[in-house]
Amino acid sequence: MALKVVILAAGKGTRMRSKLPKVLQPLAHKSLLQHVIDTAESLNSDSVITVIGHGAELVEQRVAGDNLSFVMQEQQLGTGHAVQMATPLVNADDTVLILYGDVPLTSLETLQDLLSLVSNEYPLGLLTINLDNPTGYGRIVRDQHLVVQAIVEQKDASDEQLLISEVNTGIMAVKGQQLNYWLSNLSSDNAQGEYYLTDIIAMAVADGFTVQTTQPHSEIEVLGVNDKVQLQDLERRFQKQQAVQLMQAGVTLLDANRIDIRGQVNAKADVQIDVNCILAGLVTLGENVSIGANCILKNVTVADGSVIHPFSHLEDCVVGQNCIIGPYARLRPGTELGNEAKIGNFVETKKAIIGEGSKVNHLSYIGDTDMGKDVNIGAGTITCNYDGVNKHKTIIGDRVFVGSDSQLVAPVQVGDDATIGAGSTITKDTPEAKLTLSRAKQITISNWQKPTKS
Ligand code: UD1
Ligand code: CA
Repeated sequence: MALKVVILAAGKGTRMRSKLPKVLQPLAHKSLLQHVIDTAESLNSDSVITVIGHGAELVEQRVAGDNLSFVMQEQQLGTGHAVQMATPLVNADDTVLILYGDVPLTSLETLQDLLSLVSNEYPLGLLTINLDNPTGYGRIVRDQHLVVQAIVEQKDASDEQLLISEVNTGIMAVKGQQLNYWLSNLSSDNAQGEYYLTDIIAMAVADGFTVQTTQPHSEIEVLGVNDKVQLQDLERRFQKQQAVQLMQAGVTLLDANRIDIRGQVNAKADVQIDVNCILAGLVTLGENVSIGANCILKNVTVADGSVIHPFSHLEDCVVGQNCIIGPYARLRPGTELGNEAKIGNFVETKKAIIGEGSKVNHLSYIGDTDMGKDVNIGAGTITCNYDGVNKHKTIIGDRVFVGSDSQLVAPVQVGDDATIGAGSTITKDTPEAKLTLSRAKQITISNWQKPTKS
């Protein structure tokens, strides 16, 4: 027995008013469809079959998965027709889980609950939900013993059926043998002239099966997205959900409504995050890390006790313990700070290893650099790493002092304990423990006269 997940993603999504197919619209920086594929894969499914149609080529390019395949639905003749496109890939003893490319947040637990209902004896399980306003959804029709009889679509429902608050989320699990058989018997004789997937429920009942149902833990799991307003609404709900999870894990958020997580955050105890931060990719925060307002961290590891002051931007970098960064610092990819390092305001670093206790406090660019311990880089220091064609490396030893407004023209090496005089342009390696400077001697011209207007 194999688990096959079929994801319906052929629809156009006209109401998005976008050139991008609906299922590629982003939620927390990941496409709606990719959310669904990732969930499908974490169920240990044997294959994930995505039914594509509108924007098929782009959809195929933009999503990824280990066991992912695509089938084409040229014309969107209904949800039943869409699932039919996948039936050549479905075997009799498979269990098929049907998901939707525009319903991104269904939890693993809910889907496992649903799958656990399905067996040879009970070949059909449905995920339903009770809504205060069921308008637009297919209604779950039950008999007096509360046994499911059918799903009736809004447009086909009687006035009495329209009062039913239990609705079809669309998500269902079906044994392959029955699914293939029931789908082959669908007709489009209904108000919309579509092949309704939901008609298989009545077929199952007619064949003498008892349809099983379960419900999700929260409504957010079954919300679909049709336009930019719903997309934004779901984004906010998802962000709030993630913020709540962070707080439950012990993180202090100054405002749970003003943090965006676009990836995964692992945080140890007593982390504090001020307002308007964006955490993207994989962000790992040690104990007592503090992040000031308006910071952006993408794929960053910060060790215990470090403080990132407001308006700092860090990407693909590693920060040691008890470092102090910012405000207004930019740490670009390949930056690694040793413990107790300091990066101050208006400092940019890239591919830079900054040793333990070293300080770059003001207005500097440090790129392609290997820096030792306890170095002090004066304000306005620039590593000139680019000759217009190639990048070159600057190597700075331990306990070096670089005077303000100096340029280190790479490739160049500064020995341990060296001092560079302020305002120097260093083009050659400098020896250990000596003062090196390269600037014109200060002179005063005593008979100099200010120019006068002619
Ligand atoms: C469907 C269900 C309804 C349920 C609702 C939940 C049917 C007949 N009705 O209605 O009971 O309450 O979902 O949201 O199944 N799609 C395709 N190809 C098609 C048709 C649809 O890929 O030929 C995709 C759409 O892109 C969409 C999804 O399937 O993502 C649902 O289709 P849609 O027509 O919106 O179904 P609903 O009318 O919402
Ligand atoms: Ca429809």
